[in-house]
Amino acid sequence: VANGLAQTPPMGWNSWNKFACKVDDATIRATADAISANGMKAAGYRYVVVDDCWHGARDANGLITEDKTRFPSGLKALADYVHSKGLKFGIYSDAGTKTCGGRPGSQGHEYQDALQYARWGVDYLKYDWCSTGVRNAEEAYALMSDALRASGREILFSMCEWGNSKPWLWASKIGNMWRTTGDITDKWAGHHGYSWGVTSIADMNEPLWPYAAPGHWNDPDMLEVGNGGLTDTEYRAHFSLWAMMAAPLIAGNDVATMTAATRAILLNTDVIAVDQDPLGAQGHRVWKDGDREVWSKPMSDGGRTILLFNRGEAPATIGADWAMLDLPRSVQMRARDLWARKDMGKRKGRYEAKVAPHGVVMVRLSH
Ligand code: GLA
Repeated sequence: VANGLAQTPPMGWNSWNKFACKVDDATIRATADAISANGMKAAGYRYVVVDDCWHGARDANGLITEDKTRFPSGLKALADYVHSKGLKFGIYSDAGTKTCGGRPGSQGHEYQDALQYARWGVDYLKYDWCSTGVRNAEEAYALMSDALRASGREILFSMCEWGNSKPWLWASKIGNMWRTTGDITDKWAGHHGYSWGVTSIADMNEPLWPYAAPGHWNDPDMLEVGNGGLTDTEYRAHFSLWAMMAAPLIAGNDVATMTAATRAILLNTDVIAVDQDPLGAQGHRVWKDGDREVWSKPMSDGGRTILLFNRGEAPATIGADWAMLDLPRSVQMRARDLWARKDMGKRKGRYEAKVAPHGVVMVRLSH
């Protein structure tokens, strides 16, 4: 979009994965406090986003209000608080008559809602797709995009229609990111009711790599890192896959009480730098043999970041040949292991490592 935002994938936190509809003013303030104090802000996490269920009823003029029991001081005061921490404030609405949580949607109130958000000081809107009936997605998202632009405030537009109408084909001029899949859940793989495990989400998002670029990104949904359903090895794989895919890095755990291990994953600045590389290329899979995979992401310095990914249940040796990475066979590259956080010296032709079950080895190769 021409709003100039999201030149690198958006980073922040969203209430949904951990708190769902049990979100309130105190939780958001505690989260903003934590992000500004625990290193996340310094590492680039910027947007604090209240997902579904903040809404009250519309007033007599049709203006949306906040749920006064959950947000007694109001969203304007909450936005001011988040801004006072040097962070940005985001909220959630829906293109239909109701949100997925049954609160009022924005259909028929788009300009009014955009104006209200701007008055409150909103910097980011996630716009969902429940209760949309026969609406055309491109038309519905373009309408809200126009309304946000007319509001006079710079508001990042996060589109959430789950990939149903292939937004990667039409949304780059409308929004800054678009969901490519159904909802993520805190599981390793497979399909669980309406939700998908992290590796299944990655597989659906991976082939869409040609559509990501500065200003508009494929969104494989928010992070589950730290929510407890996976091992730390699996969470490292999850975080690495998202960084390789230049995905928005929106933490979805309780960052005020997270363990040191979770913090070390979310705050790995080497891995974050891969996600945030200014070239903005989405990495993708370049080799697969059963459970063993090699992914590659071209970097702005002319190098590559590679991911050796073992989906299997036993340790496996995985090697990336320069030919897979579109590098001349004879070129010598400096290698840095981004989870060991260790320089590995110079390599020529191939980088090989032993990879733990459900684990990754992530290596940055530079000239
Ligand atoms: C949908 C979205 C989720 C979340 C919920 C809220 O399922 O895909 O990310 O916003 O709605 O109800």
